[in-house]
Amino acid sequence: MSGHIVSVRNLSVKLGDQVVLENVSFRVDEPSLILVVGPNGAGKTTLLKVMLGLIKPLKGEAEVFGLNPFREGEKVRRLIGYVPQKDKITYETPLTVGEVVLMGTLLRKRFPRSISRSDVEKARKSLAYMGMEDKWKLLFSELSGGQQRRVLIARALSSDPSLLLLDEVFAGLDLESQEKLLEVLRMLKENWRTIIIVEHELDPVIDLADKILVLNRSMCVYGEPREVLSEDKLKPIYPCLKTIEKEGRQLIILGDKHA
Ligand SMILES: Nc1ncnc2c1ncn2[C@@H]1O[C@H](COP(=O)(O)OP(=O)(O)OP(=O)(O)O)[C@@H](O)[C@H]1O
Ligand SMILES: [Mg+2]
Repeated sequence: MSGHIVSVRNLSVKLGDQVVLENVSFRVDEPSLILVVGPNGAGKTTLLKVMLGLIKPLKGEAEVFGLNPFREGEKVRRLIGYVPQKDKITYETPLTVGEVVLMGTLLRKRFPRSISRSDVEKARKSLAYMGMEDKWKLLFSELSGGQQRRVLIARALSSDPSLLLLDEVFAGLDLESQEKLLEVLRMLKENWRTIIIVEHELDPVIDLADKILVLNRSMCVYGEPREVLSEDKLKPIYPCLKTIEKEGRQLIILGDKHA
């Protein structure tokens, strides 16, 4: 047992006959926001799945709140809010938006599972954070892709998780929804929650990030933004990296191409 929020040590993962992560290590010691970036196929989603206990490491260890996610998956998942890159809900399922958000709370309960008035309040509040309060009674399947994404984020928030794992949630959101989501992430940080967020580019999350993990299978750079954001460290992973100036500040565009 450790006192860390997340501790990953020399982690290697094999999927099929491919080693998709090799010797990855990083630690989260205090509530903070960690931005994970890396090219397609770098193993970012795989890393989140290891923390959720859905994939067994080949070598090394992962601990979440001192628990082994693979052996104590149910306990670990009760503490985590997860928004997958692609959600498996079939979009034809006749569930209302409210029911989808309430699933977040329900799944964390023991049997017999029942919903209290305060659960409904929390679910409505989470939906309001994402600017979707007026959609409570609508069918989830009838929302646009971006709106569905926001509902799924609200679902992850509704159980008030200690750790939030977000896999490319900014993709496909309009600017207003991105601003709302950044505001929610800022608020969660202030409430001492830990957020691990996978994205393809540094912008727009970079301003909120306490640490950055740049990942490409066996290459792993981890540290505070000012340590990590140097061309020397990033070029081996992102050969197409560009630095541009936007609104008076330097912005690094990673460009998604395999090293
Ligand atoms: N179930 C699986 N069986 C075999 N190989 C898999 C499986 N899932 C993922 N992989 C492979 O593992 C590698 C890493 O995949 P992963 O989804 O973790 O990458 P990623 O960094 O999230 O990429 P992206 O940015 O495209 O989402 C890829 O080469 C992928 O093809
Ligand atoms: Mg992925």
